Amino acid sequence: MRNKIVAGNWKMNNDANETESLLKKLKNYKFKNDVIVMVSPSFTNLQKSVINLSDSKIEVIAQNISELEKGAYTGEISPSMLKSIGVSRVIIGHSERRAYYNETDQLLKKKINNALKNNLDLIFCFGEQISDRKNKKEFEIVNNQLSKTLLDIKKPDWDNIILAYEPVWAIGTGENATPEQAQEMHLYVRNWIKINFGLKTSEMVPILYGGSVNPNNASKIFSQADVDGGLIGGASLISNDFIEIINSF
Ligand code: PGA
Repeated sequence: MRNKIVAGNWKMNNDANETESLLKKLKNYKFKNDVIVMVSPSFTNLQKSVINLSDSKIEVIAQNISELEKGAYTGEISPSMLKSIGVSRVIIGHSERRAYYNETDQLLKKKINNALKNNLDLIFCFGEQISDRKNKKEFEIVNNQLSKTLLDIKKPDWDNIILAYEPVWAIGTGENATPEQAQEMHLYVRNWIKINFGLKTSEMVPILYGGSVNPNNASKIFSQADVDGGLIGGASLISNDFIEIINSF
């Protein structure tokens, strides 16, 4: 049985006060035991959030990480910095990082390796553009993104990896992939893992769907056999919506 996971991707939203009030609402809610809930406050709010949630099961994760371990790299955050404040997971490869900050597969591979080497777990995102889908190239694109970044992963490290399929055309657009489209890609990804790392690993890795998940579409998407949860952007900023999505399992 794979874990059921719902992670909120808060992006560059919520100052200190807003973070605190959102956490308060989530913290006081009794979630079902079998769903792992994660939130990703900005770097400036991470430590406070970890402390705030210390008596809760909600996991605090980071949104980005340097590909380097330490040194003269102004503005960067290392895995050990995150670990030292109690953060043990980071999102890598989000399409906004790829598109607006020129994060290439080559750089993402370094970030993945840096995280794993320093015992930081990850959520790795990938997904095709609308033009790729229109040209029926979505599988080719995803295959490339996975092969260029994850092919050298050591088998035991898969215990520390969550994948997130996020079709770029569905992120923040209100246009979600249909449950069938999500399932089709998730199955493709699971087969990719099976071919390269074996059946056991493929059956164990959680694959989340991300892209305009909301309280109305979550349960149909989450009910697909190879969808193990969601990475939620906009709707994770609204406590009631996020709670409803988590309860959609
Ligand atoms: P969205 O974002 O839910 O607002 O579409 C998802 C994401 O970027 O992870």
